[in-house]
Amino acid sequence: MSAFFKIKTYFNYWLDAVDEHSLHAPFLFDFYTKIIKREVIDVPLIESLRKQLSNDHRVVEVEDFGAGSKHLAGEKRKISDIAKLSLSDAKFSTLYSRIAGYCKAKTIIELGTSLGINTLYLAQQPQSKVYTFEGSASLAEIASISFEFGGAQNIELITGNLDTTLYSTLSRIPKIDMVFMDANHRYEPTLRYFDSLLARSHHKSIFIVDDIHDTPEMEKAWTELKKHPLVYTSADLFRCGLLFLDPSLNKQHVVLRF
Ligand SMILES: C[S@@+](CC[C@H](N)C(=O)[O-])C[C@H]1O[C@@H](n2cnc3c(N)ncnc32)[C@H](O)[C@@H]1O
Repeated sequence: MSAFFKIKTYFNYWLDAVDEHSLHAPFLFDFYTKIIKREVIDVPLIESLRKQLSNDHRVVEVEDFGAGSKHLAGEKRKISDIAKLSLSDAKFSTLYSRIAGYCKAKTIIELGTSLGINTLYLAQQPQSKVYTFEGSASLAEIASISFEFGGAQNIELITGNLDTTLYSTLSRIPKIDMVFMDANHRYEPTLRYFDSLLARSHHKSIFIVDDIHDTPEMEKAWTELKKHPLVYTSADLFRCGLLFLDPSLNKQHVVLRF
């Protein structure tokens, strides 16, 4: 995507973004001050793994079932490049981990495992079970080594194209508390996966959609998701968007500084 598109969307975000001083709704004020705007306290074991992977220059064949990487072209990719360019950074992964703690998530769905670093953050709450989906067999293999390294017992990795794996897996998951959508960054699959996941969610479930301003397609998907009749509050953090389904919240959309 053109640098101009990225600069324009960031400029719009920057103009609209507010902090706690402009948040009047008690829920959003609390969520912003207690969950979003917090010091980054990373997990040293996970960050040491990120560092190891960032120094691993082996090349892997990546079969990409999504929109492709915005930074990495071709099927042959260096693990080090994936670790440096395609993963959520510690600031965002620790936020997702705090959100999982906030909603006391028992069942978490992550679309797009990649090397498994973010998955390990999502799996920090011992009461949670994380179902994580990855299309590329070679990345899934590395992710399963990451999970062993991290000592995580509460992660189930599902390998294959989401177009088939998501539906078969959801048939055995009755209820979802938190979703992190970060796989196929296209308009139609984003809305389709959202609808399927919504059918298993409840009023207190929280959805996080990554890369909402990366492409016009993802901006369009984000605009539709915010307007969905079952979404009551949405928050734009530029890199990702949060969707809240609780009908006791006012219908509102906020752009938050992060
Ligand atoms: C941006 S990476 C995920 C990063 C990770 N969630 C994080 O936060 O660090 C996206 C991943 O989604 C996978 N993916 C894309 N489309 C997919 C699909 N249709 N089915 C399964 N996996 C897919 C890609 O192979 C890639 O590894």
